[in-house]
Amino acid sequence: MNKRLMVSVAAAAFGVAFSSASLAWLEKGGEREEALHLKPDLENGRDVFEVCAGCHLTEGWGKKDGTFPQLAGQHKEVLIKQLADIREGNRDNPTMYPFAQPSAIGGPQALADVVAYIQKLPMNPDNGKGEWPEGTPEFEQGKKLFHDNCVKCHGEHGEGKAAKFYPRIQGQHYKYMLRQFEWIRDGKRRNANPDMVKQIKNFSDKEMKMVINYVSRIPVPKKDLAPSADWLNPDFD
Ligand code: HEC
Ligand code: HEC
Repeated sequence: MNKRLMVSVAAAAFGVAFSSASLAWLEKGGEREEALHLKPDLENGRDVFEVCAGCHLTEGWGKKDGTFPQLAGQHKEVLIKQLADIREGNRDNPTMYPFAQPSAIGGPQALADVVAYIQKLPMNPDNGKGEWPEGTPEFEQGKKLFHDNCVKCHGEHGEGKAAKFYPRIQGQHYKYMLRQFEWIRDGKRRNANPDMVKQIKNFSDKEMKMVINYVSRIPVPKKDLAPSADWLNPDFD
């Protein structure tokens, strides 16, 4: 019997009802749940974010080449889940790992503070996009794939769903999403939602590129965007 199954059998024996698949994706308790219930201090959030800005930039926009994701505008619930997963070693991120540790930034309160700060940052009006503009057959195919396979979780416009920890993917950099999608499909991102893995396991590389190309071109609502691509975060003058 594998370890995960053993844990769920043990849990069932104690009368706790959850599926084995939900374990690695959304474990009960822990830092995520604790941080979600704390009242954030935005000023401390800004101070903690200084550490993050070294890679994700002071605007939280990441990089078009996909090395660093855009964080600005992401749901705080999603940010907390991903941070807690990275801290617990449930999602591999060797580059960021040392900077995300409690010894570097603090415990659950620091998490609550920094995600509240990040969620409010205006998004990059010029995210990295795939190669096929609207009107090309690949764009149209990607759009259909999106509607058939993604909308039920990520929403009609890729806006995600905070309460379910489904990330906002509209406005995210193409190359970052492509890497994550491939890792999720191939089981390399261990904290991924098992239902998403099931949904995309038969995607070819071309289909993957077409659907992510489409997502990278979904417009972000204007109210969530910075006024221009050279906007600088005034908190870091
Ligand atoms: C040394 C560089 C570095 C630093 C510093 C850093 N990160 Fe990251 N972060 C990364 C990289 C690289 C990734 C993408 C990893 C991957 O491709 O799986 C990432 C991913 C993330 C993600 C996942 C995003 C998503 O869409 O799933 C979150 C959330 C995040 N970082 C938050 C933070 C916060 C908050 C801080 C500061 C406390 C921070 N990072 C500091 C490099 C860094
Ligand atoms: C069953 C719900 C579900 C479906 C269906 C689904 N996703 Fe996801 N997706 C998720 C969840 C949940 C995550 C975050 C996984 C985690 O917790 O690490 C995610 C993560 C992602 C990410 C990485 C985001 C990031 O910031 O790191 C991308 C890109 C993505 N999904 C694209 C898609 C596309 C494109 C489709 C359709 C082809 C799709 N997903 C279908 C639930 C779903």
